[in-house]
Amino acid sequence: MLQTGTKRFRTRILGQNCLYFKELDSTNTYLKEHGGSLAHGTTVIAGRQTQGRGRLGRAWSSDEHTALYMSVLLKNIPQPISQSLPSLCGLATVKALEKLTGREFLIKWPNDVICLGKKVVGILCEGRLCGEQSYYVCGIGVNVLQDRAFFARNGLDHGGSILTQTHRVKTLEAVAESILIELEALLDVFVQEGFMPLLPAYKRHCVNIGREVRVITGETEQHGICVDVCADGSMLVDFCGQTKKICAGEASVRGFYGYV
Ligand code: BTN
Repeated sequence: MLQTGTKRFRTRILGQNCLYFKELDSTNTYLKEHGGSLAHGTTVIAGRQTQGRGRLGRAWSSDEHTALYMSVLLKNIPQPISQSLPSLCGLATVKALEKLTGREFLIKWPNDVICLGKKVVGILCEGRLCGEQSYYVCGIGVNVLQDRAFFARNGLDHGGSILTQTHRVKTLEAVAESILIELEALLDVFVQEGFMPLLPAYKRHCVNIGREVRVITGETEQHGICVDVCADGSMLVDFCGQTKKICAGEASVRGFYGYV
């Protein structure tokens, strides 16, 4: 069972201070508010979120006991590379879930984690400047044990869980630990050398490269071909011969065939 404690996970730093709440508005909101006085690597997990938040101001719905709501506090991240934190978290999560389940997981730019065409994980990274100090909160929501009926009931046509997509039954604790282990390993490289050494692995897992995409920015939608993803987390899209850089904070993408 997940509960507050230290040394719960087989990691050196991430999650060694772990705060567990039965219910929170949002694990990201909690760490954004309290991160200034907490140690690097502090991890907050909630059994349920009442105001879970997603990318681009969207909501992230909550289901007790079947999904993981986890946020990790990262300090001392050099500011110039902080914009690729979402890509880093996406890659760490994909690697973790592949090891845990033995199945293939992919990344839909910038950091949705999908399996067999369904979104299994959503990631929201946020930064906070607190006096002289800045810190980052990486929020990871993983659908673990929901069944197909859950997604149908909630109108989440593109959603799936580890259970529905891989038929593997995993505990929330095992999923949390596998992500923390992988994130810790990649973070060591990232802090030293930035995202560049990790970019080839990200690209190998990214479903969008070389495919048609609809780029949705506010009310406008443009069609193009994703030609590349850069080390700063942006995507290069070719719109009828003109290549434009699309930043993750501004736009979402959809393919032409379902969610991917
Ligand atoms: C998205 O796909 O839009 C991102 C969803 C991120 C959800 C996670 S759940 C844990 C953390 N707390 C939040 O309020 N959001 C993130």
